[in-house]
Amino acid sequence: MLRLPQPRYWFATTNEGTRMQLRPTTDRVRRIQDETAPSYDRRISFFERVLFGGGRRWVCEQAQGDVLEIAAGTGRNLPFYGPGVRLTTIELSPEMLAIAHRRQRDLGRQAELKLGDAQELEFADESFDTVVCTLGLCTIPDDHRAIGETFRVLRPGGTLLLMEHVRSPSLPVRAVQRALDPLAVHFEADHLLRDPLDHLERLGFSVETVLRSKLGIVERVAARKPAGSTS
Ligand SMILES: C[S@@+](CC[C@H](N)C(=O)[O-])C[C@H]1O[C@@H](n2cnc3c(N)ncnc32)[C@H](O)[C@@H]1O
Repeated sequence: MLRLPQPRYWFATTNEGTRMQLRPTTDRVRRIQDETAPSYDRRISFFERVLFGGGRRWVCEQAQGDVLEIAAGTGRNLPFYGPGVRLTTIELSPEMLAIAHRRQRDLGRQAELKLGDAQELEFADESFDTVVCTLGLCTIPDDHRAIGETFRVLRPGGTLLLMEHVRSPSLPVRAVQRALDPLAVHFEADHLLRDPLDHLERLGFSVETVLRSKLGIVERVAARKPAGSTS
């Protein structure tokens, strides 16, 4: 039987004007992340020092009740959650998840760490009080769909907490990001020109806090699913 090669990319319109952008498929992202997993902790710890300092603590300390973390990677947020949190995480890459399980064992932290796709969450509507994502929306192939899923699974009044690297509002910085973006997308499945603020209000969230730092590249966001809204 003739087997056609699987597509590795698809086209999507971005919210930055009407530009079309080539995006890796979910299978390709999984493969890239599986290959990245053994070196992820070493590499991200450098960026945590220079760009993301305090971001994990800021996000996780606000998480309450039934908490879902999407695109949880190697579980680097696990040490920062409070003891009262009932934590579930999902991650696309089995290799990343295996490292997260080791970290969970070392920390003795209660949590359910699962394989899953943030674009198609397995959870019922209105299951969580808080959804967390750090440095994940830059990699998830369809970030708009993933944010829509977080809205669906949040209870009315629940909070979405994010820490992401985003498109800078500074023109010179953004020009550099635009030049690097095709390489970052191709080799790391990492989109440099995204910003969750493009989607949050259109999907029904009320944005309560936005903190920007590092030439506008780093963004922390707290957004609420309004009480009384339906999924
Ligand atoms: C840059 S890493 C960030 C990991 C972690 N959140 C952190 O803060 O260190 C991006 C992660 O998103 C995961 N990811 C990408 N697409 C996903 C999807 N559709 N569903 C779940 N996880 C996904 C990747 O496998 C990878 O572990």
